[in-house]
Amino acid sequence: MKLLSRIKNSKIGSSIQYSIKPRKVKFEWKDTPIDWIPNQPFISYFINEINMILPAGEFWFCRLYNKVLPQITDEKLKEDVRAFIRQEAMHAQAHNSANKEYLTIRNIDVERNLKLMDLLFTKVLADKPLTFIPVPGPLEHQWDLFRLGIIATVEHMTCVLGKYVLYNKKWEELGADANMLDLVKWHGAEEIEHRTVAFDLYRHLGGGYISRYYQSLLVIAAVIGLWVDGAAHIMRQDPRFADKKPALYKPWIWREWVRIAQTDNRLMPHPLWLVSQQLGYLMPWYDPVHEAKTEDAIAYLDKSPAAKRALLKVA
Ligand SMILES: [Fe+2]
Ligand SMILES: [Fe+2]
Repeated sequence: MKLLSRIKNSKIGSSIQYSIKPRKVKFEWKDTPIDWIPNQPFISYFINEINMILPAGEFWFCRLYNKVLPQITDEKLKEDVRAFIRQEAMHAQAHNSANKEYLTIRNIDVERNLKLMDLLFTKVLADKPLTFIPVPGPLEHQWDLFRLGIIATVEHMTCVLGKYVLYNKKWEELGADANMLDLVKWHGAEEIEHRTVAFDLYRHLGGGYISRYYQSLLVIAAVIGLWVDGAAHIMRQDPRFADKKPALYKPWIWREWVRIAQTDNRLMPHPLWLVSQQLGYLMPWYDPVHEAKTEDAIAYLDKSPAAKRALLKVA
């Protein structure tokens, strides 16, 4: 019975009792090298690409959530969504600071990758798809629900990745740059803290179960494809990879990713492991509350150097 009620479009509210806390952060990039994990240029570039992938998407989350905010009838969920918006906006700003004050200053062209993400999130997935196709009134809610479902699927993935980085000790062992490590761990921890919001909101506004299947396929293919394509673009600019000419459609970058992950999956998550992590989301009993431990996330957030630096700046 409980299972049936989870499968159908039950109009639920917030599934958490705690309050999500938006935090300000301040990152210093002047001492962060391109190989922020020493002697690991491939992994460093690969993780650096998230600075370009994330901001446009996170600002898109914020715009869509602000649009549907008046439709939320559960007060606690409304409070969760407001906090989620503030956290995601801060994530986007923090990654943008890395693009401007870290990568660009070290002569990495980030514009091509940023433009691609901008096209996807401000045009293709805009309120009017491609910015000019009007959505007829009766279909507007369906278009919003489709996009909310995409966000819920992405948020499952960011929770999975959040756990991966939060508990990762390997990068520290290799002498990783403290600022970049803090950026990914702070972001990962907040993804864990707000892991229920997108799923609760999607279901609250009528999101169904079956759509999770095709949305998962869409999201996993798009995220992995964009990630590899963007990472290849920034690697291509480095003479150390000149002979490889990295590109999405060339096997080398995929083989190298798999080789590193197979050497030690704490260096990089294996692409097939990432795909397999979507399976949990497809189960009828999926509940993001059980996907991670909020207390571990808060324990990190309470000591994050970037969060402490921002507090000092305000004081
Ligand atoms: Fe985020
Ligand atoms: Fe998130």
